[in-house]
Amino acid sequence: MRISLFAVTVATLYSDALAFTTKAFHRPASSSLSATVEKVSKTKVPVFDEVCDTTGVTLKRFMSEVAMLNPELTELAVLFGGVDTACKALANLVKRSQLPSSETLGYEGNVNVQGEDQKKLDVIANDVLKRALRFTGRLGVLASEEEDTPVDIMPENVKKQEIVIDESEKYVAVFDPLDGSSNIDAGCPTGTIIGIYEHDENCDIDENCVGEECTELEAACLANTLQPGTNLVAAAYCLYSSSTFLALTLGNGVYMFTLDDQIGEFVLSNPDVKIPESSNIMSFNSANYDNWDQPLKDVVKGWETGTGKSQTAFSSRYIGAMVGDVHRTLLYGGVFGYPGDKKNPNGKLRLLYEGAPMSFIMEQAGGLSTTGTQRVMEIIPEIVHQRVPMIMGSKNDVEEIIEAYDNWKQ
Ligand code: AHG
Ligand code: MN
Ligand code: MN
Repeated sequence: MRISLFAVTVATLYSDALAFTTKAFHRPASSSLSATVEKVSKTKVPVFDEVCDTTGVTLKRFMSEVAMLNPELTELAVLFGGVDTACKALANLVKRSQLPSSETLGYEGNVNVQGEDQKKLDVIANDVLKRALRFTGRLGVLASEEEDTPVDIMPENVKKQEIVIDESEKYVAVFDPLDGSSNIDAGCPTGTIIGIYEHDENCDIDENCVGEECTELEAACLANTLQPGTNLVAAAYCLYSSSTFLALTLGNGVYMFTLDDQIGEFVLSNPDVKIPESSNIMSFNSANYDNWDQPLKDVVKGWETGTGKSQTAFSSRYIGAMVGDVHRTLLYGGVFGYPGDKKNPNGKLRLLYEGAPMSFIMEQAGGLSTTGTQRVMEIIPEIVHQRVPMIMGSKNDVEEIIEAYDNWKQ
Protein backbone atom coordinates (compact mmCIF):
# COMPACT_ATOMS: atom_id res chain seq x y z
CA MET A 1 0.00 0.00 0.00
CA ARG A 2 2.77 2.37 0.99
CA ILE A 3 4.59 1.64 -2.27
CA SER A 4 1.70 2.46 -4.52
CA LEU A 5 0.70 5.60 -2.60
CA PHE A 6 4.24 6.93 -2.78
CA ALA A 7 4.53 5.94 -6.41
CA VAL A 8 1.31 7.72 -7.33
CA THR A 9 2.29 10.82 -5.39
CA VAL A 10 5.69 11.03 -6.98
CA ALA A 11 4.42 10.17 -10.47
CA THR A 12 1.67 12.79 -10.26
CA LEU A 13 3.95 15.49 -9.03
CA TYR A 14 6.49 14.72 -11.67
CA SER A 15 4.16 14.58 -14.62
CA ASP A 16 2.17 17.65 -13.57
CA ALA A 17 4.65 20.00 -12.10
CA LEU A 18 8.07 19.30 -13.48
CA ALA A 19 9.62 20.44 -16.67
CA PHE A 20 13.29 21.04 -16.19
CA THR A 21 14.72 23.96 -17.99
CA THR A 22 18.22 24.24 -19.26
CA LYS A 23 19.96 27.53 -19.71
CA ALA A 24 22.77 28.56 -21.93
CA PHE A 25 24.82 31.69 -21.65
CA HIS A 26 27.10 33.67 -23.85
CA ARG A 27 30.53 34.14 -22.43
CA PRO A 28 31.87 37.66 -22.74
CA ALA A 29 34.48 38.23 -25.42
CA SER A 30 36.89 39.65 -22.85
CA SER A 31 37.25 39.42 -19.11
CA SER A 32 34.73 42.23 -18.62
CA LEU A 33 31.24 40.82 -18.40
CA SER A 34 28.34 41.97 -20.47
CA ALA A 35 24.68 41.11 -20.04
CA THR A 36 23.88 37.41 -20.28
CA VAL A 37 21.36 35.80 -22.57
CA GLU A 38 19.22 33.02 -21.18
CA LYS A 39 17.97 30.32 -23.46
CA VAL A 40 15.21 28.38 -21.80
CA SER A 41 14.07 25.07 -23.25
CA LYS A 42 11.68 22.60 -21.69
CA THR A 43 12.83 19.05 -21.22
CA LYS A 44 11.13 15.79 -20.36
CA VAL A 45 10.66 14.82 -16.74
CA PRO A 46 10.92 11.47 -14.99
CA VAL A 47 7.81 9.64 -13.85
CA PHE A 48 8.47 7.09 -11.14
CA ASP A 49 5.70 4.56 -11.68
CA GLU A 50 7.57 1.85 -9.81
CA VAL A 51 9.33 2.57 -6.55
CA CYS A 52 11.25 0.09 -4.42
CA ASP A 53 9.87 0.02 -0.89
CA THR A 54 13.37 -0.45 0.55
CA THR A 55 15.31 2.18 -1.34
CA GLY A 56 12.70 4.73 -2.48
CA VAL A 57 13.89 7.01 -5.28
CA THR A 58 17.61 7.44 -4.77
CA LEU A 59 19.54 10.49 -5.97
CA LYS A 60 21.41 8.19 -8.36
CA ARG A 61 18.16 6.95 -9.92
CA PHE A 62 16.74 10.46 -10.02
CA MET A 63 19.74 11.84 -11.87
CA SER A 64 20.06 8.90 -14.25
CA GLU A 65 16.38 9.21 -15.23
CA VAL A 66 16.84 12.94 -15.74
CA ALA A 67 19.83 12.14 -17.98
CA MET A 68 17.97 9.46 -19.98
CA LEU A 69 15.13 11.83 -20.71
CA ASN A 70 17.38 14.83 -21.27
CA PRO A 71 20.60 13.71 -22.95
CA GLU A 72 22.00 17.25 -22.78
CA LEU A 73 22.05 16.88 -18.98
CA THR A 74 24.04 13.61 -18.99
CA GLU A 75 27.25 15.32 -17.93
CA LEU A 76 25.43 17.16 -15.16
CA ALA A 77 24.19 13.83 -13.82
CA VAL A 78 27.79 12.61 -13.71
CA LEU A 79 28.82 15.74 -11.82
CA PHE A 80 26.06 15.13 -9.31
CA GLY A 81 27.59 11.70 -8.72
CA GLY A 82 30.56 13.63 -7.31
CA VAL A 83 28.29 15.86 -5.23
CA ASP A 84 26.52 12.76 -3.88
CA THR A 85 29.80 11.16 -2.80
CA ALA A 86 31.26 14.39 -1.38
CA CYS A 87 28.20 15.12 0.75
CA LYS A 88 28.22 11.62 2.20
CA ALA A 89 31.94 11.83 2.93
CA LEU A 90 31.54 15.28 4.52
CA ALA A 91 28.56 14.16 6.62
CA ASN A 92 30.72 11.34 7.91
CA LEU A 93 33.67 13.64 8.66
CA VAL A 94 31.44 16.14 10.45
CA LYS A 95 29.82 13.39 12.51
CA ARG A 96 33.13 11.77 13.42
CA SER A 97 34.78 15.10 14.23
CA GLN A 98 33.26 14.93 17.70
CA LEU A 99 35.18 11.77 18.60
CA PRO A 100 38.34 12.34 20.66
CA SER A 101 40.37 10.32 18.15
CA SER A 102 39.40 12.41 15.11
CA GLU A 103 41.61 15.47 15.75
CA THR A 104 39.72 17.46 13.09
CA LEU A 105 38.20 20.11 15.35
CA GLY A 106 39.69 23.57 15.92
CA TYR A 107 41.71 25.89 13.74
CA GLU A 108 44.02 24.99 10.89
CA GLY A 109 46.30 27.90 11.68
CA ASN A 110 45.83 29.53 8.26
CA VAL A 111 43.84 32.56 7.26
CA ASN A 112 41.92 32.35 3.98
CA VAL A 113 42.10 35.05 1.32
CA GLN A 114 39.14 36.83 2.91
CA GLY A 115 41.02 37.20 6.19
CA GLU A 116 39.03 34.53 8.03
CA ASP A 117 40.65 31.90 10.25
CA GLN A 118 40.27 28.54 8.58
CA LYS A 119 39.05 25.63 10.66
CA LYS A 120 40.66 22.27 10.03
CA LEU A 121 37.39 20.99 8.64
CA ASP A 122 37.09 23.99 6.27
CA VAL A 123 40.30 22.85 4.62
CA ILE A 124 39.46 19.14 4.66
CA ALA A 125 35.96 19.79 3.28
CA ASN A 126 37.37 21.94 0.48
CA ASP A 127 39.77 19.19 -0.49
CA VAL A 128 37.12 16.45 -0.42
CA LEU A 129 34.73 18.44 -2.55
CA LYS A 130 37.37 19.58 -4.99
CA ARG A 131 38.61 16.07 -5.61
CA ALA A 132 35.12 14.56 -5.80
CA LEU A 133 34.09 17.06 -8.48
CA ARG A 134 37.39 17.10 -10.31
CA PHE A 135 37.53 13.36 -10.82
CA THR A 136 34.12 13.30 -12.48
CA GLY A 137 36.00 14.76 -15.45
CA ARG A 138 33.14 17.15 -16.13
CA LEU A 139 34.50 20.23 -14.42
CA GLY A 140 36.31 23.10 -16.10
CA VAL A 141 36.91 25.61 -13.35
CA LEU A 142 35.97 25.96 -9.75
CA ALA A 143 35.87 28.74 -7.23
CA SER A 144 35.58 28.11 -3.54
CA GLU A 145 35.39 30.13 -0.36
CA GLU A 146 38.58 28.43 0.75
CA GLU A 147 40.49 28.94 -2.50
CA ASP A 148 42.43 32.05 -3.49
CA THR A 149 40.92 34.32 -6.11
CA PRO A 150 41.52 33.56 -9.75
CA VAL A 151 43.58 35.58 -12.20
CA ASP A 152 44.10 39.31 -12.22
CA ILE A 153 41.73 40.01 -9.36
CA MET A 154 44.04 38.12 -7.02
CA PRO A 155 45.60 40.34 -4.36
CA GLU A 156 49.33 40.95 -4.64
CA ASN A 157 50.13 39.09 -1.45
CA VAL A 158 48.47 35.91 -2.66
CA LYS A 159 50.90 33.75 -4.58
CA LYS A 160 49.16 30.41 -4.70
CA GLN A 161 46.25 29.68 -6.93
CA GLU A 162 44.48 26.41 -7.43
CA ILE A 163 42.22 25.92 -10.38
CA VAL A 164 40.90 22.56 -11.37
CA ILE A 165 40.86 21.89 -15.06
CA ASP A 166 39.99 18.75 -16.91
CA GLU A 167 40.15 18.02 -20.63
CA SER A 168 36.48 17.08 -20.91
CA GLU A 169 35.34 20.00 -18.82
CA LYS A 170 31.80 21.22 -19.33
CA TYR A 171 30.87 22.89 -16.06
CA VAL A 172 32.07 25.51 -13.62
CA ALA A 173 31.44 24.80 -9.94
CA VAL A 174 31.38 27.36 -7.16
CA PHE A 175 31.12 26.23 -3.57
CA ASP A 176 31.23 26.92 0.11
CA PRO A 177 32.68 23.62 1.33
CA LEU A 178 31.70 24.02 4.98
CA ASP A 179 29.13 26.66 5.75
CA GLY A 180 28.65 27.69 9.36
CA SER A 181 31.97 26.22 10.40
CA SER A 182 31.93 28.24 13.62
CA ASN A 183 29.24 25.75 14.71
CA ILE A 184 31.44 22.75 14.14
CA ASP A 185 33.20 22.46 17.49
CA ALA A 186 29.83 22.46 19.28
CA GLY A 187 28.38 19.77 17.02
CA CYS A 188 25.68 22.15 15.74
CA PRO A 189 24.37 22.21 12.13
CA THR A 190 26.69 22.98 9.23
CA GLY A 191 26.36 22.54 5.48
CA THR A 192 27.82 22.71 2.00
CA ILE A 193 26.60 24.97 -0.83
CA ILE A 194 27.24 24.28 -4.52
CA GLY A 195 26.41 26.24 -7.65
CA ILE A 196 26.99 24.92 -11.16
CA TYR A 197 27.33 27.01 -14.31
CA GLU A 198 28.11 26.00 -17.86
CA HIS A 199 31.71 26.37 -18.91
CA ASP A 200 32.87 27.65 -22.25
CA GLU A 201 34.43 24.61 -23.88
CA ASN A 202 36.52 26.79 -26.17
CA CYS A 203 38.49 28.09 -23.24
CA ASP A 204 42.11 27.11 -23.48
CA ILE A 205 43.80 27.59 -20.14
CA ASP A 206 47.33 26.92 -19.04
CA GLU A 207 46.59 25.46 -15.66
CA ASN A 208 49.94 26.72 -14.37
CA CYS A 209 49.21 30.38 -15.06
CA VAL A 210 49.08 32.51 -11.95
CA GLY A 211 47.66 36.04 -11.58
CA GLU A 212 49.09 38.43 -14.16
CA GLU A 213 50.87 35.57 -15.93
CA CYS A 214 47.47 34.55 -17.33
CA THR A 215 46.70 35.83 -20.79
CA GLU A 216 43.59 37.89 -21.44
CA LEU A 217 41.85 34.81 -22.85
CA GLU A 218 42.77 32.76 -19.84
CA ALA A 219 41.53 35.52 -17.60
CA ALA A 220 38.26 35.58 -19.52
CA CYS A 221 37.94 31.83 -19.20
CA LEU A 222 38.55 31.98 -15.49
CA ALA A 223 35.95 34.71 -15.33
CA ASN A 224 33.50 31.95 -16.18
CA THR A 225 33.17 31.81 -12.43
CA LEU A 226 31.91 35.40 -12.42
CA GLN A 227 28.41 34.76 -13.71
CA PRO A 228 25.13 35.99 -12.24
CA GLY A 229 22.79 33.56 -10.51
CA THR A 230 20.43 33.70 -13.49
CA ASN A 231 23.03 31.62 -15.40
CA LEU A 232 23.07 28.79 -12.86
CA VAL A 233 22.13 25.44 -14.35
CA ALA A 234 21.97 23.77 -10.95
CA ALA A 235 22.36 24.53 -7.27
CA ALA A 236 22.42 22.31 -4.23
CA TYR A 237 23.05 22.33 -0.54
CA CYS A 238 23.86 19.56 1.90
CA LEU A 239 22.86 19.97 5.52
CA TYR A 240 24.65 18.07 8.27
CA SER A 241 22.17 18.01 11.12
CA SER A 242 19.92 15.44 12.86
CA SER A 243 19.75 13.89 9.38
CA THR A 244 21.89 14.60 6.34
CA PHE A 245 19.88 16.34 3.62
CA LEU A 246 20.67 17.18 0.03
CA ALA A 247 18.38 19.70 -1.67
CA LEU A 248 18.83 20.58 -5.33
CA THR A 249 17.31 22.51 -8.17
CA LEU A 250 17.87 22.07 -11.88
CA GLY A 251 15.82 25.13 -12.73
CA ASN A 252 12.28 23.97 -12.11
CA GLY A 253 11.37 23.17 -8.53
CA VAL A 254 13.35 21.97 -5.52
CA TYR A 255 13.90 18.30 -4.68
CA MET A 256 14.95 17.28 -1.21
CA PHE A 257 16.73 14.03 -0.44
CA THR A 258 17.48 12.54 2.99
CA LEU A 259 20.45 10.24 3.57
CA ASP A 260 19.41 6.73 4.56
CA ASP A 261 22.45 5.61 6.55
CA GLN A 262 21.33 1.99 6.33
CA ILE A 263 21.73 1.79 2.57
CA GLY A 264 24.13 4.72 2.18
CA GLU A 265 21.95 6.53 -0.34
CA PHE A 266 20.17 9.87 -0.57
CA VAL A 267 16.46 9.10 -0.90
CA LEU A 268 13.91 11.52 -2.33
CA SER A 269 11.94 12.75 0.68
CA ASN A 270 10.28 15.87 -0.71
CA PRO A 271 9.82 16.03 -4.49
CA ASP A 272 8.38 19.53 -4.62
CA VAL A 273 9.57 21.82 -1.83
CA LYS A 274 7.41 24.93 -1.62
CA ILE A 275 7.98 27.63 1.00
CA PRO A 276 4.82 29.00 2.72
CA GLU A 277 3.90 32.41 1.27
CA SER A 278 3.62 34.09 4.68
CA SER A 279 5.33 33.33 7.94
CA ASN A 280 5.95 34.33 11.53
CA ILE A 281 9.65 33.49 11.83
CA MET A 282 12.57 35.84 11.30
CA SER A 283 16.19 34.82 11.23
CA PHE A 284 18.82 37.56 11.50
CA ASN A 285 21.84 38.28 13.66
CA SER A 286 19.82 40.90 15.52
CA ALA A 287 22.90 42.11 17.40
CA ASN A 288 23.54 44.15 14.24
CA TYR A 289 20.09 45.80 14.41
CA ASP A 290 21.29 49.30 15.30
CA ASN A 291 23.45 49.43 12.18
CA TRP A 292 20.79 48.24 9.70
CA ASP A 293 19.07 50.45 7.13
CA GLN A 294 15.98 52.24 8.44
CA PRO A 295 13.41 50.36 6.29
CA LEU A 296 14.64 47.01 7.54
CA LYS A 297 14.61 48.25 11.14
CA ASP A 298 11.02 49.45 10.70
CA VAL A 299 9.76 46.19 9.20
CA VAL A 300 11.49 44.04 11.81
CA LYS A 301 10.10 46.25 14.59
CA GLY A 302 6.62 45.70 13.12
CA TRP A 303 7.18 41.94 13.11
CA GLU A 304 8.40 41.98 16.73
CA THR A 305 5.32 43.86 17.88
CA GLY A 306 2.78 42.24 15.57
CA THR A 307 2.02 45.59 13.92
CA GLY A 308 3.49 44.77 10.49
CA LYS A 309 1.59 44.12 7.27
CA SER A 310 0.36 40.70 8.40
CA GLN A 311 -0.44 41.93 11.93
CA THR A 312 1.34 38.80 13.17
CA ALA A 313 3.87 38.69 16.00
CA PHE A 314 7.01 36.93 14.75
CA SER A 315 9.42 34.62 16.61
CA SER A 316 13.16 34.68 16.15
CA ARG A 317 15.24 31.62 15.16
CA TYR A 318 18.94 31.80 14.26
CA ILE A 319 21.31 28.85 13.89
CA GLY A 320 24.23 30.93 12.61
CA ALA A 321 24.77 28.60 9.65
CA MET A 322 23.08 29.80 6.49
CA VAL A 323 22.33 26.30 5.20
CA GLY A 324 20.55 25.38 8.44
CA ASP A 325 18.65 28.66 8.63
CA VAL A 326 17.60 28.53 4.97
CA HIS A 327 16.60 24.86 5.23
CA ARG A 328 14.27 25.64 8.15
CA THR A 329 13.00 28.72 6.32
CA LEU A 330 12.12 26.62 3.25
CA LEU A 331 10.19 24.09 5.31
CA TYR A 332 8.51 26.26 7.96
CA GLY A 333 8.41 29.58 6.10
CA GLY A 334 10.16 32.67 7.38
CA VAL A 335 12.68 35.31 6.45
CA PHE A 336 16.41 34.71 6.70
CA GLY A 337 18.82 37.53 6.13
CA TYR A 338 22.28 38.88 6.51
CA PRO A 339 21.67 42.50 5.49
CA GLY A 340 24.17 45.21 4.87
CA ASP A 341 24.84 47.53 7.78
CA LYS A 342 26.80 50.67 8.61
CA LYS A 343 29.96 48.70 9.34
CA ASN A 344 29.61 46.21 6.47
CA PRO A 345 27.46 47.71 3.70
CA ASN A 346 27.53 44.43 1.76
CA GLY A 347 26.81 42.25 4.76
CA LYS A 348 28.78 39.07 5.27
CA LEU A 349 27.56 36.40 2.87
CA ARG A 350 29.39 35.75 -0.38
CA LEU A 351 27.50 36.29 -3.64
CA LEU A 352 29.03 33.52 -5.69
CA TYR A 353 28.91 30.49 -3.45
CA GLU A 354 26.36 31.44 -0.81
CA GLY A 355 24.09 34.17 -2.20
CA ALA A 356 23.39 33.05 -5.77
CA PRO A 357 22.96 29.26 -5.28
CA MET A 358 20.78 29.65 -2.19
CA SER A 359 18.73 32.35 -3.95
CA PHE A 360 18.22 30.00 -6.90
CA ILE A 361 16.91 27.31 -4.55
CA MET A 362 14.75 29.82 -2.64
CA GLU A 363 13.17 31.20 -5.82
CA GLN A 364 12.58 27.72 -7.21
CA ALA A 365 10.71 26.90 -3.99
CA GLY A 366 8.45 29.93 -4.54
CA GLY A 367 10.28 32.39 -2.28
CA LEU A 368 12.13 35.63 -2.95
CA SER A 369 15.69 36.80 -2.42
CA THR A 370 16.71 40.46 -2.44
CA THR A 371 19.39 42.85 -1.28
CA GLY A 372 16.49 45.12 -0.30
CA THR A 373 16.73 46.97 -3.60
CA GLN A 374 17.83 44.33 -6.12
CA ARG A 375 17.14 40.67 -6.96
CA VAL A 376 20.24 38.78 -5.78
CA MET A 377 20.10 36.41 -8.78
CA GLU A 378 20.67 39.27 -11.22
CA ILE A 379 23.86 40.64 -9.71
CA ILE A 380 26.92 40.08 -11.91
CA PRO A 381 29.89 39.36 -9.64
CA GLU A 382 33.00 41.46 -10.14
CA ILE A 383 35.25 39.43 -7.88
CA VAL A 384 35.07 35.86 -6.70
CA HIS A 385 34.73 36.58 -2.99
CA GLN A 386 32.30 39.50 -3.37
CA ARG A 387 29.87 39.91 -0.48
CA VAL A 388 26.19 40.66 -0.88
CA PRO A 389 23.46 41.90 1.46
CA MET A 390 20.71 39.30 1.48
CA ILE A 391 17.15 38.90 2.68
CA MET A 392 15.31 35.79 1.49
CA GLY A 393 12.27 33.74 2.31
CA SER A 394 8.47 33.74 2.25
CA LYS A 395 7.15 35.83 -0.62
CA ASN A 396 4.74 38.13 1.22
CA ASP A 397 7.19 38.94 4.01
CA VAL A 398 10.14 39.62 1.70
CA GLU A 399 7.85 41.80 -0.41
CA GLU A 400 7.11 43.83 2.73
CA ILE A 401 10.82 44.56 3.02
CA ILE A 402 11.18 45.38 -0.69
CA GLU A 403 8.26 47.83 -0.42
CA ALA A 404 9.80 49.48 2.63
CA TYR A 405 13.06 49.99 0.70
CA ASP A 406 11.09 51.32 -2.31
CA ASN A 407 9.47 53.96 -0.10
CA TRP A 408 12.70 54.87 1.66
CA LYS A 409 13.84 58.40 1.18
CA GLN A 410 17.53 58.43 2.12
P1 AHG B 1 31.09 30.34 6.73
O1 AHG B 1 31.19 29.44 7.91
O2 AHG B 1 31.04 29.57 5.43
O3 AHG B 1 32.11 31.44 6.72
O4 AHG B 1 29.65 31.04 6.73
C1 AHG B 1 29.16 31.60 7.93
C2 AHG B 1 28.07 32.55 7.57
C3 AHG B 1 26.69 31.94 7.42
O5 AHG B 1 26.62 30.57 7.36
C4 AHG B 1 25.94 32.44 8.60
O6 AHG B 1 24.64 32.73 8.23
C5 AHG B 1 26.69 33.65 9.04
O7 AHG B 1 28.00 33.49 8.62
C6 AHG B 1 26.67 33.86 10.53
O8 AHG B 1 27.37 35.01 10.83
P2 AHG B 1 27.30 35.71 12.28
O9 AHG B 1 28.09 34.84 13.18
O10 AHG B 1 27.90 37.07 12.06
O11 AHG B 1 25.84 35.79 12.68
MN1 MN C 1 29.21 30.06 4.47
MN1 MN D 1 32.48 28.11 4.68
